[in-house]
This record gives sequence, structure tokens and C-alpha cells, in this order.
Amino acid sequence: MPSQENNLLQEFELFLQSHLPDAPSFHPTYNHALKEMFTAGGKRFRPLMLLQVVDAYEPQLIKNAFWVASGIEMLHTYSLIHDDLPTFDDSELRRGQPTLHVTYDEVVATLVGDALNSHSFLMIANAPLSDKVKVALIKELSTNCGTDGMVLGQAIDCYFEDKKLTLDELTFLHIHKTAKLIAASMKMGAIIVGLELKKQELLYDIGLNIGLLFQVQDDIIDATFTTEVAGKPTNNDNSKNSFTNLLGIEGALIEKAKLKSKIEAQISQLDSVLKDRLLTDINIYFK
Ligand code: IPE
Ligand code: IPE
Ligand code: MG
Ligand code: MG
Ligand code: MG
Repeated sequence: MPSQENNLLQEFELFLQSHLPDAPSFHPTYNHALKEMFTAGGKRFRPLMLLQVVDAYEPQLIKNAFWVASGIEMLHTYSLIHDDLPTFDDSELRRGQPTLHVTYDEVVATLVGDALNSHSFLMIANAPLSDKVKVALIKELSTNCGTDGMVLGQAIDCYFEDKKLTLDELTFLHIHKTAKLIAASMKMGAIIVGLELKKQELLYDIGLNIGLLFQVQDDIIDATFTTEVAGKPTNNDNSKNSFTNLLGIEGALIEKAKLKSKIEAQISQLDSVLKDRLLTDINIYFK
């Protein structure tokens, strides 16, 4: 990974690890479970998308943005903890570690997810940014992750688990379940640095396509990687509506290449300060 991305992520990681939620009490496991999924790795892809936008335009705001990027990572982590529960995907491994419901129990895992969901908004509220910017950030994140955002995607994913969807319906599902949070991360970077609305919207749009590409790749990982390499159970989507099940592995690879070219063309419309960084990231994460 080029040193610029590396430094940004390393600095962010130090911030995240020193700002994890903390709730000491006489509960024997809750406080430990609250922090556990953050020490298990994870790509930090959504924080990186936000931080690249901030660092490109207003690098002096990067530490202020760490609060917001941490909030997004906490929200994403809550979604993974719930996604792994027996009632959702019933997965026993996440980020190379046993999932929380396996190590502890379903009650603790569910509640840690709930706590991280709330805590993500507290992180944004506590960020050293203006109140006006923070309200806009909270609105953006809640719109994209809540009622008709990521949660709707998860609802459709689970309800239609054994019922075949069309390609348009599958795209709708993945836009909601995965792409909206990635798009929001990019737009939230643009909100922090005060980019004009048109540029915010272009970044959101690029983020939706990156999110779709992310999920196509995630489906390919499920169908082709070993559990050891993926750090989570693979071959877990056999009955699911995934790009690989609908299009086959070859078809999903073609879709991935098409999306990648589309994103590269969109990125080339961006200001040069941001363009090169994003092109580099796309090539690192979507080889
Ligand atoms: C997995 O997300 C869930 C999807 C939305 C596909 P990531 O692949 O970003 O998981 P981590 O954060 O790196 O563990
Ligand atoms: C999970 O999608 C997406 C969210 C948590 C919102 P997946 O079920 O495909 O994620 P993995 O494969 O378990 O990481
Ligand atoms: Mg799932
Ligand atoms: Mg899953
Ligand atoms: Mg998956």
C-alpha cells in the first residue's frame, strides 16, 4: 500500500483504538465484548474513503475527521455483529476471530451491536466540528444506514434468502445493504471540508458504484476464497441472492470489471487533488 494511504490508516487506527467505547461495570463480559471486534482487524475501507476526501482538500481537518470516521467504523461494525447472528447469516467467524455470539452469547452480541449503533452518533456529536456540519453528518449517516438505507438492504437480503431476485432487484438490495454506507462516507468527507453540493453529490454517486463493486467482490470472495484467507466463513451465500449465484463466477467477474471502468471514468471528473488518490485506492482494493 502506498505510504500516503498507509500513514493515514495507521494514524486513524491509533485514534480509533484510543477512542473505543468503554462501559465498566460488574457485568463480567460486556465491556470486553464492546471493544473486541475492533482489535480483530478489518480493512477500515469506509473510514479511508472519508479520510481521503478530507486529506485531499483540508488536511488540517484530518484529526477532527477521525471522530467521524470512527463513528462510521463503529456503525459498520454493529452491522457486521448483527449480520453474523444466528437469525441473520449465522456466521461463526469474523475478521479471523470467533463472532461475539460464539464467544459470549446472543444477548451480549445483540446488545453490543445496539450500543455501537448509538455510539457511532455520539462520536460524531463529540467531533470538534461546527454544530451545523455535525447535524448534516448525522443526517447523512442516519439516512443511509437506517430506515430505508442499510437496514432495508439487510431486511430484503434475509427475507428473500431462498427466493430468487432479478438482477435489478439484486442491485437494489446491494445498493441498500452495502453501497449507501460507502457513498455516505465519501459524501460526509465532502461535508466536513465544505465542498459545494454538486461535488458532494458526484462523490455520493461514485460511492454508490464503489459500494456495488465492493459487494460484487464480497460475493466473489464468498464463492472463491478459503475461510482462512477471507477471515470469515465462505461458501456461506449458497442459497442467497448474490452476484455469483445470479451471474455465475465468470459473469460476476465481468460485472466487476465493468463497474471498475465506470468508476474510473467518474473519478477522472474529480479535482486532481482527489483523483489520483482514489484511483490508487480502487486499484489496491479491487485488483
Ligand atoms: C463486509 O464488510 C460486509 C460487507 C458490506 C460486504 P468489509 O469487507 O468491509 O469487512 P471488514 O470491515 O473489512 O471486516
Ligand atoms: C453484510 O453483507 C452487509 C452488512 C452487514 C450490512 P454480507 O452478509 O455479504 O457480509 P459478510 O459476507 O458476512 O461479510
Ligand atoms: Mg448478510
Ligand atoms: Mg454475512
Ligand atoms: Mg458476503
